[in-house]
Amino acid sequence: MSATIAELDRKRAAAKAGGGEKRVAAQHAKGKLTARERLDVLLDHGSFEEYDMYVEHNCTDFGMQDQIVPGDGVVTGSGTINGRLVFVFSQDFTVFGGSLSERHATKICKVMDMAMKVGAPVIGINDSGGARIQEGVASLAGYAEVFQRNVLASGVVPQLSLIMGPCAGGAVYSPAMTDFIFMVKDSSYMFVTGPDVVKTVTNEVVTQEALGGAITHTTKSSVADLALEDDIETLLAARDFIDFLPSSNQSPVPERPTSDAWDRIEDSLDTLIPASANQPYDMHELIRKTVDEGDFFEVQPAHAGNIITGFGRIEGKTIGIVANQPMVLAGCLDINSSKKAARFVRFCDAFEIPIVTFVDVPGFLPGVGQEHSGIIKHGAKLLFAYAEATVPKITVITRKAYGGAYDVMSSKHLRGDLNYAWPTAEIAVMGAKGAVEIIFRGLNADGIAEKTAEYEARFANPFVAASKGFIDEVIQPHSTRRRIALGLRKLRNKSLENPWKKHDNIPL
Ligand code: HXC
Repeated sequence: MSATIAELDRKRAAAKAGGGEKRVAAQHAKGKLTARERLDVLLDHGSFEEYDMYVEHNCTDFGMQDQIVPGDGVVTGSGTINGRLVFVFSQDFTVFGGSLSERHATKICKVMDMAMKVGAPVIGINDSGGARIQEGVASLAGYAEVFQRNVLASGVVPQLSLIMGPCAGGAVYSPAMTDFIFMVKDSSYMFVTGPDVVKTVTNEVVTQEALGGAITHTTKSSVADLALEDDIETLLAARDFIDFLPSSNQSPVPERPTSDAWDRIEDSLDTLIPASANQPYDMHELIRKTVDEGDFFEVQPAHAGNIITGFGRIEGKTIGIVANQPMVLAGCLDINSSKKAARFVRFCDAFEIPIVTFVDVPGFLPGVGQEHSGIIKHGAKLLFAYAEATVPKITVITRKAYGGAYDVMSSKHLRGDLNYAWPTAEIAVMGAKGAVEIIFRGLNADGIAEKTAEYEARFANPFVAASKGFIDEVIQPHSTRRRIALGLRKLRNKSLENPWKKHDNIPL
C-alpha cells in the first residue's frame, strides 16, 4: 500500500516539476511565475483541484517519444475566487514552450466543457509558442476544438484570457474569442506572425513589443483590455474582475455587502458641469461618486478614451457603465469608441448586467478619415447593441445629447427603461450656433448671435424632450445615485424578449 502511495507522490512530483529546474529558473529570470505559481495567486488558497496531471502527448515524430512530460504543458482544473467556482487552464512555458499539442488541447477542452455544464467562468492563462510544431495537423485540430468551444461558450459563461508570455499563431485566436484579455507589460506578446516573418514578408522591422506588446494592444489595436505591470498585479486584477461577473448567463449578478448608503447624496455633483458648454469635466468623477464605495473597474481605459466602459456596483450588485468622456474629443462618438462600447453593451446584455449610461455627447466625429473608415457601419454597432439589449437600461443625460448620438446613447426610443436628465442637459439636433447657421444661412453676425441665443433658450435644456415624455424626469445631480438605485430596484424583475430569430446580423 505504502509503495503505491509513494508511487503516486512520485508521479505528482514529476508532473509538478514541469520542464525542469533549468527552464523554471529561466522563466523566473524573465520576471515570470510558473504555471502553477500563477494558479496559486489567482485562486483562493488551497482551492485548486487539478485534472489530467498525468496526460502525455502521443507524438512519435522528431524523437518526441523520448520527451514525455506528464501534464503535457498545461495545468488544468477548477478552484474558487472569493468562494465562487471558476475553471482554469494555465499553460506551462517550461514544457515545449507551452505549445499546444492534441492532448494539451483535449485538457483545455475538458475544463471548458465542465464550465459549460455547471455554469462557471473560464480563465485561461496563456503562455505559449502556438501549435506544437512536431505534431503538425494534430495540433491545428486541437486549436480548432478549443476555438469551437470558445464560440459555443460565448454568452453562456464569462471567458477571461490572461496573456502572460509570448502568444504566437493559434495561441492568439482563442483569447481573441473570449470576453476580456488582460496582458502583462514587457513580458507578454500577441501576434499572428512574429517580427521575423513580418520582416520577410513586408520588409518592416519591428520589435516584439511594438508589434504585439501590452501597450500596443491596449492603446492601438484594442485587442486587449488592460495592461498590468507584472504577473502578480495581473492575477490580482483578474480576481477583482471576476468578482463583478455573474457565473453564467443563468446566474444572477454577484452581490457584495456594502456599507455605502443607497441614497447617499453627493452635493458636489451640483457643480460638476462647468459654466461654459465648451469646457470639459471628468466623467470619471460622476461615475466614482455614483457607484458603491467609488469602486469602478474600467475596461479598455487606454483605448478610445472618449467613451468610458466598466463595472461598478449599486447596493452591492454589479452594473455596467457606459459614459461619454468630455475630456477626450469632447466626448464625440467615433469609430473606436463605438466599437468599444458596443462590445461592452453586448457583454452586459448577454449576462443580464444592468446598463447605466451617462450621456454628454456632441455628436458623431465628423471627418473624411472617419467616413472613409466606415463610421456609418461602426457607429451602427453601438446603436444596434443598445437597441437589441433587453437588460435594465437607465440613462442620465448630464449635458449635451445632440443629433444621432442622442438616439444612440440608450435613448427612450431604443427601449431605455428610465431616462433621466440633469437640469444642465441640452437635448437637440445639434449645437445652437451650428443649427442657426444652417437654418438662417445669410444672416449677418448680429443676426446669427440673436438667433443663437433664441435657439439656446428654446432647446439648450431638457424640458422640450421631457414635455414629449422622452425624458422621464429631470433630476438633481446630487441625487443621481439615489435615483439609479431606486430605478434598479424597480427594474429587478424586468422581462423583455426580442422576437425569435436564429441570430441577429449586427453590422460587423
Ligand atoms: C514546439 C516550441 C514551440 C512550438 C517554442 N517551443 N515554440 N516547441 N512547438 N510552437 C519550444 C522551443 O523549442 C524551446 O524548447 C522552448 O519552447 C522555449 O522556446 P524559445 O524559443 O527558447 O523561447 P523564446 O526565445 O522565449 O521564444 C518564444 C517564442 C519562440 C517567441 C514563442 O519559441 C517562437 O517563435 N516559437 C514558435 C512560434 C510559432 O511560430 N508557433 C507556431 C505558430 S503556427 P527547449 O527544449 O529549447 O526548451 C500556429 C498555427 C495555429 O500556431 C493556427 C490556428 C488558427
